[in-house]
Amino acid sequence: MRVVSGIQPTGNLHLGNYLGAIRNWVKMQDEMEEGSQCLFFLADLHAISMPHDPAELASNTLEMTAALVACGIDPMRSVLFNQAQVHAHSELQWLLGGTARMGWLNRMTQWKDKAGKNREGQSVALFTYPVLQAADVLLYQATHVPVGEDQKQHLELARDIAQKFNNDFASEEAPVFTLPEPYIPPEAARIMSLRDGSSKMSKSDPSEMSRINLADDADTIMKKVKKAKTDPEPLPSEAAGLEGRAEALNLVSIYAAMSGQSVDSVLATYGGEGFGKFKPALGEVLVESLAPISERFNALKSDREELDAILARGAAQAREIATPTLDSAYQALGLVRAHH
Ligand code: TYM
Repeated sequence: MRVVSGIQPTGNLHLGNYLGAIRNWVKMQDEMEEGSQCLFFLADLHAISMPHDPAELASNTLEMTAALVACGIDPMRSVLFNQAQVHAHSELQWLLGGTARMGWLNRMTQWKDKAGKNREGQSVALFTYPVLQAADVLLYQATHVPVGEDQKQHLELARDIAQKFNNDFASEEAPVFTLPEPYIPPEAARIMSLRDGSSKMSKSDPSEMSRINLADDADTIMKKVKKAKTDPEPLPSEAAGLEGRAEALNLVSIYAAMSGQSVDSVLATYGGEGFGKFKPALGEVLVESLAPISERFNALKSDREELDAILARGAAQAREIATPTLDSAYQALGLVRAHH
């Protein structure tokens, strides 16, 4: 089993990232068997596909590293690194560029959402970003990729690229790439904005009130939960009763995911109650479970030396794991790779 996943480095890790992805990274790392391996990376190369501030990108990469370690990623057991230090990512992206099809990329919903009506004005990188994402996982022969629902389409594309490359340039007995499986947590695949139950919780939402950041202090968390959008009805006693109530469903799902219960068991306790009672309880669950994470984060985030060392070590390991696959990809295409 080879687990690989990445996250874009922005200063803040939010609850959607945590419940949709990072918590599963930690679980997979902790349950890893002998001979298996986890690689987790900061997708800093991805971050340049949108307008960005270079100084901020550099400091966000370090901060996100601290956040991942605070969440439980152990750099001694998992390979933790940033893309920019492992040039095989960029190289393989170019090699896969001959296989990926314009039509496939044109169908990516994230591209359509981010580009909006102004496709002509977008960076080329925003369009080709999913090819880099395919390179990110194929480079390491990933078998499992833990992500939130919104990344599913990108992983299907990675499978399509791998399959076509194997078909076109390798034999059935000796494929160059493994087809990766997305691993999406059923209970928290898509955490929604606190201000709007129809859009996902996201770092690009201009409203801070729409998301809970892992580094938020207790007062901020309580305030955001209290201000979260809801409806006037009391909570139902079963999950089916949440249909058509996106905001209520989202808050109950967050409660369930954070406390390790099913939605039904949360409703067995809170069914019939209004949000006046449920929200403070949700706030408390969040504060209690996030406190140790934010404490570790605050202790580590300014330890520049330690963070640099973690990333340097992770990158060295990643480069080594990547080499045989990158070599085979060059060779399959009829290219001779220089080693220096
Ligand atoms: P990114 O940085 O937007 O998000 C990181 C992870 O968090 C998940 N996620 C969510 N899950 C549930 N509910 C939400 N509201 C929510 N918001 C974010 C995402 O699904 C993701 O798993 N392109 C990727 C980064 C990437 C990557 C990769 C991932 C680059 N290369 C290779 C996997 C494999 C991205 O922008 O994720």
